[in-house]
Amino acid sequence: MRSLKWSISHAVFVAEIDDEHKEIFEALSNVQEALGGAPAQIRTPMQRLVTAMVDHFAHEERLMRAARYTGMRWHKKQHENARKRVEQFVRRIGKGDAKAGPALVEYLSSWLGDHARLSDRMMGASLRNHKRGLFKMTFRAGTKPMDACAWVDANGDRFDPSSPR
Ligand SMILES: [Fe+2]
Ligand SMILES: [Fe+2]
Repeated sequence: MRSLKWSISHAVFVAEIDDEHKEIFEALSNVQEALGGAPAQIRTPMQRLVTAMVDHFAHEERLMRAARYTGMRWHKKQHENARKRVEQFVRRIGKGDAKAGPALVEYLSSWLGDHARLSDRMMGASLRNHKRGLFKMTFRAGTKPMDACAWVDANGDRFDPSSPR
């Protein structure tokens, strides 16, 4: 089984997405901990995991739509497949299938790592480019982006892009 902890190797470099991935990994790890207890104990962490995952997929899909990301259909299909697989595991767990819990953890830990490292990272690069493009457009339109948002450098410090550094 892969690691159930988020690491920098999963980073997509879009803060809101990385934060949600951390939450999903944490929820998954709670499900794994609950596997050792009574069958009913898995219900709450499993619900947290499913909610975090479904909300996260919807969030990524909103961001992709807004950025007109060309790989969206391919990416969304992967989300749908994972969502269906997880629903099947949840149904099996509900019926008391003792093997379904460990199988869910095994499946999702591996799927999350693979999906974050390739598909989400590709999407993250595109979202960052889209954001940069919007900044450029704002400049061309002659407005002052400093009024709307702060510019930060690689260290997170604010700077004024119109004055030489
Ligand atoms: Fe994704
Ligand atoms: Fe993701």
